[in-house]
Amino acid sequence: MTKDIMILAIETSCDESAAAVVKNGREVLSNIISSQIELHKLYGGVVPEIASRKHIEKINQVIEEALSEANVTLQDLDAIGVTYGPGLVGALLVGVAEAKAISFAVKKPLVGVHHIEGHVSANYIENKELEPPFLCLIVSGGHTHLVLVKEYGTYEIVGRTRDDAAGEAFDKVARAIGLGYPGGPKIDKLSKEGNNRAITFPRAHIEGAPYDFSFSGLKSAVLNHINSCEMKHEEINRADIAASFQEAVIDVLVTKTMLAAKDFGMKKVAVAGGVAANSSLREALAAACSKNGLAFYHPSPIFCTDNAAMIGAAAYYEYLKGTRSGLDLNAVPNLRIGER
Ligand code: KG4
Ligand code: ZN
Repeated sequence: MTKDIMILAIETSCDESAAAVVKNGREVLSNIISSQIELHKLYGGVVPEIASRKHIEKINQVIEEALSEANVTLQDLDAIGVTYGPGLVGALLVGVAEAKAISFAVKKPLVGVHHIEGHVSANYIENKELEPPFLCLIVSGGHTHLVLVKEYGTYEIVGRTRDDAAGEAFDKVARAIGLGYPGGPKIDKLSKEGNNRAITFPRAHIEGAPYDFSFSGLKSAVLNHINSCEMKHEEINRADIAASFQEAVIDVLVTKTMLAAKDFGMKKVAVAGGVAANSSLREALAAACSKNGLAFYHPSPIFCTDNAAMIGAAAYYEYLKGTRSGLDLNAVPNLRIGER
């Protein structure tokens, strides 16, 4: 029998201080998340300096909780996985410094993990049969990518956003209609009360780049619609705006994902990142995949938004490949996917 591989994973790239213990890459023994959302809400978005300070206050506590809930000690671990980019530099540094200190103190290997590769790997947790190759649509607050996952830890980006990320568009539109931060879940909820065909917002298709995205025009169209209503002294229908905006985003995401799956001959499609928690997006992708004879995979909402279990899953496959980080591991705020 092969020995179990136990990884403690740490994630502090944005506004969640998180730690998890993951066994053999797919079994989550604990997944502790301390969210700072309530704090950042007051400012309408994440304040980097506040995020770093809060991570320092919370990180030891979440790690202790993760170990105790998993019923393991630091000595039982095989490696420490940590997000080292992309993200807010001060926030990332807290997790990286903590992981380095633990690795040094207990003499266990350190594995630096790319945050977005973590999001993709969230799909392995509940879909035990999912293995590469597959196509993954990554939609988070900072990224919108279509990626071919060729093997564990081997990625090829085939499409990306030219401007705003999908989550960023959700957050900006939510702010414009007075829903507050973070906007994604609020638009998701309010959309259910609105008509998604009430307003026709633009769907951007980029000449010569069929898998690339652009959301800034859509965001401007929403702002223009609000302004023109105000000029005419018409009351805006927030639910209709939310539903019509969301429909425009989903339409583009689903269309391009299906096109890429067909063109690259992928039979399996996965979705990842905070926006993957969106109920209508999941339904639309599931329906499109079923229509096109593709298998569809998605994480539960708790594994879509930032968490450390997904970092543990990604760290496991890096660990198996022999990836080890030195104590000189640094935070890389603009780390690119597939780069080490
Ligand atoms: O992956 P994530 O937690 O953090 C980043 O790595 O960016 O993604 C956060 C983003 C935010 O923009 C948030 O508004 C969006 O994911 N989001 C959603 C939903 N839940 C979170 N967007 C649409 N619908 C949701 N239910
Ligand atoms: Zn994220």
